[in-house]
Amino acid sequence: MKKFKLLAMAAAVFLFFLSACGTSETSGDSGSGGDGGKKTLRIVTDAAYAPFEYQDKGDVVGFDIDFIKAVAKEAGYEAKVEHVGWDPLFVEIKGKTADAAVSAITINDERKQTYDFSVPYFLSTNKIMIPKDSPIKSAEDLKDKVVAVQNGTTGQEAVEALLGAENKNIKKFKDNNLAIMELKGGGADAVVADNTVIEEYVKNNPKENFVVIEDPVFEKEFYGVMFPKASKLKAEFDKAIKALMENGEYAKIYNDWFKVDPDLTEIKAQQ
Ligand code: ARG
Repeated sequence: MKKFKLLAMAAAVFLFFLSACGTSETSGDSGSGGDGGKKTLRIVTDAAYAPFEYQDKGDVVGFDIDFIKAVAKEAGYEAKVEHVGWDPLFVEIKGKTADAAVSAITINDERKQTYDFSVPYFLSTNKIMIPKDSPIKSAEDLKDKVVAVQNGTTGQEAVEALLGAENKNIKKFKDNNLAIMELKGGGADAVVADNTVIEEYVKNNPKENFVVIEDPVFEKEFYGVMFPKASKLKAEFDKAIKALMENGEYAKIYNDWFKVDPDLTEIKAQQ
């Protein structure tokens, strides 16, 4: 009997620990991580958008990842970044199952209705990736061509504005790497996506003979960290982002990834 009691107690203790572990990683505005009171934030991303976020031997890495870890640290948190995919990350933030999302996410009015955003931290614009020998010279030339985009991005929106939302020549993919593969395989004539992503790809894969062209119809876009509506993290992260831009740490991370100093004039003007 004694033995049984002891066993039951051991089991209870074990279960208690299990549930404690379970909650230590849940998100929301309460609870703390197991490292001396620093709360661990669950941050979600779509790690198929190098150099901002991608997977390297099972790790999620990239400019955004180093950036968000530094911001979280500055704000007094640990950050655990998890690859969940593009569409799912919006579901998670809307449902408040994650604390924040970082994923080269453009701040725009439509998204602002459902989510909160930090101050801008990166300037971007959509550009066109095409084979070197392509007849496409401008956005206008895309009109009778097959264009691959990542579903649910500003790239898709920009192409829809040109070709019409219902146009069957717009091929939408769950991540941008799949859109690029479609172009490589000849199933599309062009990819429209954020400049830095396709420029890096073209630079790193010179043998594939692609080029990137720009067109002024594509507007300037600013990336922000995305939060559930009314998250208290927004104010804390805004402060931290501005601090990193002042103290040189943002520039250091930027330099690590892009090998040049950032020009913060336009970003700061938007803050
Ligand atoms: N900046 C674009 C947007 O917000 C594309 C972002 C895609 N990001 C990603 N990690 N796949 O719509």
